[in-house]
Amino acid sequence: MNIIVTGGAGFIGGNFIHYVIKKHPDDRIVCLDKLTYAGNLSTLAPVMESSAFRFVRADICDREAVYRLFEEEYPDVVVNFAAESHVDRSIEDPGVFLQTNIMGTATLMDACRKYGIRRYHQVSTDEVYGDLPLDRPDLFFTEETPIHTSSPYSSSKASADLLALAYHRTYGLPVTISRCSNNYGPYHFPEKLIPLMIANALNDKPLPVYGQGLNVRDWLYVEDHCRAVDLIIREGKDGEVYNVGGHNEMRNIDIVKLICRELGKSESLITYVADRKGHDMRYAIDPAKIHRELGWLPETSFADGIRKTIRWYLENREWWETIISGEYRNYYENMYGNR
Ligand code: NAD
Ligand code: TYD
Repeated sequence: MNIIVTGGAGFIGGNFIHYVIKKHPDDRIVCLDKLTYAGNLSTLAPVMESSAFRFVRADICDREAVYRLFEEEYPDVVVNFAAESHVDRSIEDPGVFLQTNIMGTATLMDACRKYGIRRYHQVSTDEVYGDLPLDRPDLFFTEETPIHTSSPYSSSKASADLLALAYHRTYGLPVTISRCSNNYGPYHFPEKLIPLMIANALNDKPLPVYGQGLNVRDWLYVEDHCRAVDLIIREGKDGEVYNVGGHNEMRNIDIVKLICRELGKSESLITYVADRKGHDMRYAIDPAKIHRELGWLPETSFADGIRKTIRWYLENREWWETIISGEYRNYYENMYGNR
C-alpha cells in the first residue's frame, strides 16, 4: 500500500509512521509536512534513510504542491494528521487553525477526488463533542453524541469532520474519521500537559496547573491510537466515524502529582495559574464501536504508559531540550509569563 501521511513530523503522525513501517514493511509511506513550530524532522530521523519512506515539505493548503505530490505518488490511502493542535494557541490566534484544519482538509480531499483514492482518513478528536459534567460519570461520548464545540481548535476540527462526511455523501469519497481522546507518549511536543510537566519538573521549574486542576481527560498511549488508525484504514467502513479511547480518566492535578512522584520531585513545584478560557471539564470516550466492529482494545495501561513516557523523556533529552531552547521560549513567556 502507498500511503501519504500528512503531519508526520508531529507527535501522533510521527509515531504512526514508526508503527506502520515496523508493522507493514511492504508499505510505502510518503510524509507531507509543512514543518511548523510543531514539526520536528528529528522525530523522523530513525526512518529517514529507509527505502520505504519519503519526506516532502509542503503545506496541505497548497493545492499545487498537493496535486503535484498526488501525480508523483498516486497514493492508495491518505491519513491526515496535519493540523494546528493546541487549544491555548487557538484561543490566542484562531486564524491559522481555520486555514490548516478546514481549508487544508478540503484541499487534500479535492486531490483525492481528482486522482482517485482507496481511502481518505481524517484524524479527528473527541473535543468535537464538547465536554461532559464532572457529576455524571455515567455519561460518555458515543459516535452519536452531537457535535458541540468549545474552542476555536475543536470548532475547526469539527468543521473538517462535517466536510469529510459531506464529501462522502455528495461525491462518494471513501472517507473514514477517528475521534480519539488525549494521547501521551514519545515525541509529544512540550507545550501539552504531560510533556510540559515532565520537562519543567526535570528542570525544577514551576508546574502551571490551570484553575484547580480538576478537569478530567481520558488518556491513551499513542501507540494504541496508531494501531486504531491502522486498523481503520485497512478494515474500517467507508463513511463511518470511530471513537477511540481507553477508559482511562484522570484529573489533571493527579497526573501532575504522579509525574512529581515518578521523578522524585517535590509537589511544591505545582503552581495554580489562571484557568483556560472556555475550559472543557471532562472528556470520556465510549470505544464500544471500534471494539465491536474492528476488535480494537488498548494494550498499554496508564501505569505502564506513563513510565515508558517518562523514561523516553529522560533518555531523549536532546530532542526536547532543542525545542525548548528555541522559539518556544517566546511562546512560553507569552502564555505563562503573567498568568
Ligand atoms: P502536532 O501539533 O504534534 O503535529 C502536527 C503536525 O502537522 C506537525 O508536524 C506540523 O508541522 C504539521 N502541520 C501543521 N500545519 C500544517 C500544514 N498546513 N501543512 C502540513 N503540515 C502541517 O499534533 P498531534 O498532537 O500529533 O495531532 C495530530 C492530529 O491528531 C491532529 O489532527 C489532532 O487534531 C489530532 N488529535 C490529537 C490528539 C492529541 O492528544 N494530541 C488527540 C486526538 C486527536
Ligand atoms: P492539553 O495537553 O493542552 O490538551 P487538551 O486541552 O487538548 O485536552 O491540556 C490537557 C489538560 O491540562 C487541559 O485540561 C488543560 C490542562 N493544562 C494545564 O493545567 N496546564 C498546562 O500548562 C497545560 C498545557 C494544560
